[in-house]
Amino acid sequence: ASLADVGSPVPDRHRVPDRHAAVPPSAPGAFTNTPDTDPAVREHRAWVREVLARVPGSRLGVAGIDAARVRDAATLDVLVRDAQKAGRAWGARPAAERAAVLDRAGATLEAHRGDLLEVMASEAGKTVDQGDPEVSEAVDFAHWYAELARGLDHVDGAVFVPAALTLVTPPWNFPVAIPAGSALAALAAGSAVVLKPARPAERCGAVLAEALWEAGVPRDVLRLVQVDEDTLGRDLVAHPAVDRVILTGAYETAELFRSFRPDLPLLAETSGKNAIVVTPSADLDLAVRDVVASAFGHAGQKCSAASLVVLVGSVATSRRFRSQLLDAVSSLAVGPPDDARTQMGPLIEPAAGKLLTGLTELERGQAWALTPRPLDAEGRVWTPGVVTGVRRGSRTHRTEYFGPVLGIMTARTLDDAIDLVNDVEYGLTSGLHSLDPDEIATWLGRVQAGNLYVNRGTTGAVVRRQPFGGWRRSAVGPGAKAGGPSYLVGLGGWAPARATS
Ligand code: ALA
Repeated sequence: ASLADVGSPVPDRHRVPDRHAAVPPSAPGAFTNTPDTDPAVREHRAWVREVLARVPGSRLGVAGIDAARVRDAATLDVLVRDAQKAGRAWGARPAAERAAVLDRAGATLEAHRGDLLEVMASEAGKTVDQGDPEVSEAVDFAHWYAELARGLDHVDGAVFVPAALTLVTPPWNFPVAIPAGSALAALAAGSAVVLKPARPAERCGAVLAEALWEAGVPRDVLRLVQVDEDTLGRDLVAHPAVDRVILTGAYETAELFRSFRPDLPLLAETSGKNAIVVTPSADLDLAVRDVVASAFGHAGQKCSAASLVVLVGSVATSRRFRSQLLDAVSSLAVGPPDDARTQMGPLIEPAAGKLLTGLTELERGQAWALTPRPLDAEGRVWTPGVVTGVRRGSRTHRTEYFGPVLGIMTARTLDDAIDLVNDVEYGLTSGLHSLDPDEIATWLGRVQAGNLYVNRGTTGAVVRRQPFGGWRRSAVGPGAKAGGPSYLVGLGGWAPARATS
């Protein structure tokens, strides 16, 4: 069923008798993942159509982010010190109380699903099929971290001491799920949060913050700020009252933050250059589907995206996989995010820098199997590109473009393929398509990445089931995984429990 094939309009998805109504907020110990909007359900399609109709001219989040703008160093200093003070009071509240607020946040995020989809489409160019799982993930983070918080007060005779203030600096590519996950983790752990959304997705951050305040997160405990990144951004990161920074962004940004303050306690998930290996034993139809979704979902603008596919042995030498792949990629419907037929939306900003190079310049030995072409004057909407003849050590092999370009590499054996995959600086996600248990075991044992996916795409980690985080230059700091069982522990320290008698 297509999202465009709609029935009668229904103003609120939650008024229809759908399966969401049967999912209660998580009870302690009973965490379940929240289902996405289901295009097979007629009422859901109608609801999506209503959301999309609001996208052109949407002003959601504008007022909030205007209010959050901090223009001078003195104001910033007062804000950060006040937040630290509020954090101490928040951290002194029983963990169960904080957990209850987080469970309510799960409910308010769900209630604002349509607003979040609207602002993601209008500001960040996210299509509903890409934005909807983000909202589900944010809801999941709320309930999952609530559950973790309940177990955090005392572990093995030690007492958890939360950081008073956590600065959260999320990226623009997951403008809801990542700021939500980072902020909710810190709040669950008992820390106040200063949330600075990425500049191109600041309205998304404002709508998110509203949902969390509505749930009962005190306004002084969650502060939304927008600062001039060159000067006040540096003051913010380097401020001595900031106890932790959760950064998701480029590896270079983590290095920059460290240059502002060398002893900075940083939990950073950074860049990736991820590949899917396809061996002759693979289910090739499944592999095509997963490579296309991993490479071109959200126009390739995901840290978890697969921007390389490595074809092994006869998959490389025969035409079958390549022609199926190219058919699938060239049939992707490219267009605006508020058109329900769109399968690949625009870039968040006009292509520039290394991405523009990746979209326009071939290297030695390379050829376009599909040439990327701009469809608008601005350079935000591109058709997907596939480049063949990608050689080891080339720019296309090693550079994270963050856009809709897929490089095809070939290898004689699985071991050679793994060598290629590991021969980049990063190690975020990695994929293998193979139905051979020995191949799977070999690959799992050798490949150097934080999230390994067998016979599945490389994007869309599911909270609790697939804790998400990188290895090598894809992580800076302790490397705890978001959505996993130990993420909160990095957001504080431990003190010995005082004996009482
Ligand atoms: N957690 C996001 C994903 O898995 C980055 O795609």
